[in-house]
Amino acid sequence: MTPDPIWGPVSGRRLGVLISGRGSNLQALIDAVADGRLDAVIGVVISNRDDATGLERARRAGIDAICLSHRGWPSRDDYDRALARELQQRGVDVVCLAGFMRVLGPEIIEAFSNRIINIHPSLLPSFPGVDAQRQAFEHGVKVAGVTVHLVTTELDGGPIILQRVVPVLDTDTVDVLSARILAEEHQAYVEALRILLEEPWTIEGRRFVRLANVGGASGVRPPAGN
Ligand code: GRF
Repeated sequence: MTPDPIWGPVSGRRLGVLISGRGSNLQALIDAVADGRLDAVIGVVISNRDDATGLERARRAGIDAICLSHRGWPSRDDYDRALARELQQRGVDVVCLAGFMRVLGPEIIEAFSNRIINIHPSLLPSFPGVDAQRQAFEHGVKVAGVTVHLVTTELDGGPIILQRVVPVLDTDTVDVLSARILAEEHQAYVEALRILLEEPWTIEGRRFVRLANVGGASGVRPPAGN
C-alpha cells in the first residue's frame, strides 16, 4: 500500500489508539481533540485487556472502544492481522500506541507503514523496554525524558519525531520522577501528532526530518508510504 502523504491540508485524520491500561496519554489525546489543539478524530480505541481503564475513558468521550485480546490466536502474526483489520475497517489513518504492552510485528507495521507512533518514557536509545523510568532512576542519570517515535520492527527504535528532557532531582523517588515524566508525555504526544499530521516531513535513514527546518517542503517529495 502506498498511501498519500499523511501530512498536508487534510482535516480530521482518523486516529486509532491502542492501549493496555490506565490510558492517561489517551486522555491527553481526547482532550486535545476536544479543545481543538489537535485537528483529528479518534476513530477507535482498542485494548488487548478488557480491564483497561482507558476503555472507560474512551466510552465516556463517546468513542468506539473495543477489547481485542491477544490470547487464543494461533500466532502473533494472526493477532497483528486481526488488529490491522479492526483499524482498517474503521478508516484509521494513524495508529497511536499509548501504553500498549504488545510488540507489533511486520504484519501491522507494513499495513500502516510510517503511520504508527509510540510514546516511550525515556530519552531513547537509552532505556528501551519496560520500566524505563526505573531504569533511568537507578542508573543515576541527571536528565530523563520522553520520546515519541515512528514504530518499526526494532523495539523502541524507529525514527524519533520529538524528545522532551525532564530533570532528575536528588530528592526524587521513582514515583515522583515518573509523575514528572508523565506530565511531559501528555504534552509531547499531542505535539508529535500535530507535527506528523500538519508539518511536511521526510525520513532520511533513521532520521525524522522536519522539512520546514531545512528550507521548506517545496520540491521535496515524501517517501513512499509516508
Ligand atoms: C506511559 O508511560 C507511556 O510512555 C508508556 O506506557 C505508559 C502508559 O501510560 N509507553 P498511560 O496508560 O498512557 O497512562
